Amino acid sequence: MSRVLVTGGAGFIGSHLVEHLLDQGHSILVVDDLSTGLQHQVPDHPDVELVPATVDQWLANEPVESFHEAYHLAASVGVRKVVEDPFGTIINNVVETAGLLRFLAKSSTPTVLASTSEVYGVGQGRPFRETDDSVYGPTTVARWSYAHSKAVDEHLAFALEQQLPSVVIRFFNTVGPRQRGEWGMVLPRFVRAALDGSTIEVHGDGRQKRCFADVRDVVGALPQLLRTVEARGMPVNLGHDQPISILELAELVRDVLESKSSIKVTPYDEVWGHGFQDLQERIPDLTRVRTLASLPPTRPLAETIRDLAEAIRTEARL
Ligand SMILES: NC(=O)c1ccc[n+]([C@@H]2O[C@H](COP(=O)([O-])OP(=O)(O)OC[C@H]3O[C@@H](n4cnc5c(N)ncnc54)[C@H](O)[C@@H]3O)[C@@H](O)[C@H]2O)c1
Repeated sequence: MSRVLVTGGAGFIGSHLVEHLLDQGHSILVVDDLSTGLQHQVPDHPDVELVPATVDQWLANEPVESFHEAYHLAASVGVRKVVEDPFGTIINNVVETAGLLRFLAKSSTPTVLASTSEVYGVGQGRPFRETDDSVYGPTTVARWSYAHSKAVDEHLAFALEQQLPSVVIRFFNTVGPRQRGEWGMVLPRFVRAALDGSTIEVHGDGRQKRCFADVRDVVGALPQLLRTVEARGMPVNLGHDQPISILELAELVRDVLESKSSIKVTPYDEVWGHGFQDLQERIPDLTRVRTLASLPPTRPLAETIRDLAEAIRTEARL
């Protein structure tokens, strides 16, 4: 049985990945400081071990184990977290990643690095292609600290290419059961409001478009890409490519959950302060991933909304 490392495995995407790797017959070590992840999201299984620590703390104990594969998902994520603590975001996402990649390079462990569509910045191409330039807003706008931190992570992985076989995954908006809304993620915020019957708050003008992929449709691509030699040493977009406006998403949530919630549109400046920048449209070009991995048929967004609502109800009962 091969041993696999998953950092951030108690989090939203990480916990689904751990389940997938467990189904494939791996033994898994999860390193997660439980800052946004939850212990009970790590499967209670003899082949899964959780180290409740930061990546740095775990590395400080000089682990002697080597791994067949590694998936690095631990990071500071979420607009609210980033805007409130850009310094902590950069340190967490860059310094800890540098230490981990250096450690994994010693044993040439094939590694997936979780990156983000945010590295495209304000956006040059439509849809975004992996070969596009990255153009960011000014460094005085805190939200770009996340994009910069993840872009530096990508550079670190590519700089170690000779020692560390890696695949960089640029996740686009990923949604589904276990995602939490506290740090600004749009779908869990909307679903929670619809379940409570409170106002669904749309930030911005509501006309900005995003593509939402169900986490259960995308995690299977990670081991596939890692085991595909042609995917190594380059970024790969991962997500869904059918856009929906955020206002339409709010209406869909309300309809699917048969909620009586009203919908309120609030400009970004009122929510995030003056100067917040956002993109009108964020759509991935999925040509590369489609040539490298086989993706399952896309789950309808209504099904994801229903399953997320059920997970939120269950979590409230725990
Ligand atoms: N969800 C999305 O739509 C999305 C989009 C783009 C990129 N990503 C990337 O995917 C990865 C997973 O994101 P997610 O949505 O599951 O978020 P998440 O917050 O649920 O997962 C992050 C996990 O990392 C843990 N963590 C944070 N810092 C840590 C540290 N220093 N040491 C150990 N554990 C630490 C948290 O406790 C959490 O369990 C992240 O790298 C994120 O940047 C996610």
